[in-house]
Amino acid sequence: SSFTAVVPAAGVGKRMAAGLPKQYLPLLGSTVLEHTLNRLLEHPAIGRVIVATAEHDHWFPALAIARDPRVLRVNGGKERADSVLNALARVETDWVLVHDAARPCLHPADLEAVLAAGRQHEGAILACRVRDSMKRGDGHGAISGSVSRDELWHALTPQCFATRPLREALAAALAAGCDITDEASAMEWAGFRPRLVEGRADNIKITRPEDLGLAGFFLQQMIESEQ
Ligand code: CTP
Ligand code: MG
Repeated sequence: SSFTAVVPAAGVGKRMAAGLPKQYLPLLGSTVLEHTLNRLLEHPAIGRVIVATAEHDHWFPALAIARDPRVLRVNGGKERADSVLNALARVETDWVLVHDAARPCLHPADLEAVLAAGRQHEGAILACRVRDSMKRGDGHGAISGSVSRDELWHALTPQCFATRPLREALAAALAAGCDITDEASAMEWAGFRPRLVEGRADNIKITRPEDLGLAGFFLQQMIESEQ
């Protein structure tokens, strides 16, 4: 298999405020994280998934998928980028994709599209166009201007890159103190121009309490359309 998937799953889910990290919340008969991992493992080119979890996480070992030989667990870090970098240290393939644990509604066609584009260009990310009018605030509650929607995209995951450049870019950007919220931002910082692959807007990151029900709805729709 030519790709390794890295799944950062070491967050605490502060905005979800659920009593346990959101990746372990129940969703359609299993958990958010198991849906996410299964979506990745179903792709024939992904031979291994490296999951970064919090060091003293006791939920992950309780999942059946923790014993899947294709799944490797590593310790996450303070920020998402630290978790990703820890996992990247164990990647042995030339190509890697990074996908949030909290995005269980990944459609197979989108996964395929981002893998293909990543290899063809200087990396690629799934993204979707913003829908609402965009305003710039003046910092005191008033509008200081409107921003053209045409150029703006939401950065989603998976994000797909050659392993070595990504590892180097992330390490260097972190060392330089940059605020790195996704892999593409580290690559951009290092001078690469990753590709935007327009993906489905239902590939949501479960972030706030209301998102869990939405994710269940989208996932159910996807499962029904696959049958
Ligand atoms: N993540 C991680 N390591 C961290 C922080 C986040 O691996 N130190 C992971 C999360 O588990 C999640 C993904 O990165 O799958 C996206 O982060 P986010 O949605 O912000 O999740 P949390 O940090 O858990 O949520 P919050 O910011 O509300 O606390
Ligand atoms: Mg967070």
